Amino acid sequence: MPKSSQPIGIFDSGVGGLTVLKEISRLLPSEDLIYLGDTARVPYGTRSPKTVIRYSQRNAEFLMRLGIKLLVVACNTSSAVSLEVLRAQNAVPVVGVIEPGARKAVELTTKGLIGVIGTEATIRSGAYQKAIKRWAKNPVRVVSRPCPLFVPLVEEGWLEDPITKEVARRYLTPLKGKGIDVLVLGCTHYPLLEGTIREVMGPEVKLVNSASETALEVKGILESLGIRKSFGEGRRRFFVTDGPEKFKHLGKLFLGELPGEVDEIDL
Ligand code: DGL
Repeated sequence: MPKSSQPIGIFDSGVGGLTVLKEISRLLPSEDLIYLGDTARVPYGTRSPKTVIRYSQRNAEFLMRLGIKLLVVACNTSSAVSLEVLRAQNAVPVVGVIEPGARKAVELTTKGLIGVIGTEATIRSGAYQKAIKRWAKNPVRVVSRPCPLFVPLVEEGWLEDPITKEVARRYLTPLKGKGIDVLVLGCTHYPLLEGTIREVMGPEVKLVNSASETALEVKGILESLGIRKSFGEGRRRFFVTDGPEKFKHLGKLFLGELPGEVDEIDL
């Protein structure tokens, strides 16, 4: 049985999962967090499910060796294709970002018309559609679209740039035209573009940030298992598979502060 004093493990294909770490830190400030960014193999969003599953298994094995009590798959692409495999292979609760985001979208829609954006691999997998249909009590329609240019634009730091706004208009205007009332930001990087996305979609479309919904799910699971750590200040450790300096630099954009010490490992 896991103990409350053990850390939570979080992995992502790179730096984007820090949006999930940030929300978990905010909601559960006493928890010790270990973050692994597979920066040597990023991006996952353009790869085949088979490859993403293989990378995800290695990430999980590394974190399990560090004695984690719960595993968070912060990467939407990895959550979309590898969650079942990771759940079957690891003896701790495994939380992905798709289910929490899908559940929130179902809760928020009044028209039953939900939009989902993500990487090519996430959208191709249909994972959000399936999860939304599973949670919905009334009929819902899901319209989705990959937005592959958003990841490099965010990593360039062009959050409010006119180019980013133009790209957002191209991607999102057709979705807006379909009359959706909820849009799921189904990629680690998209919460950083919330302002730009909101500008295109207008105030009547509600945006779902999978990162904050996932943090709520983690809290719920820890409490139901009686393994939430609720005293003291949580510690954070960061590991990457390549380029710790670049991770630190970009990490500031995602976290709002420098991630602290980052160790490079080989998987
Ligand atoms: N972390 C990925 C996701 O949320 C985006 C970056 C990538 O393609 O690896 O889908």
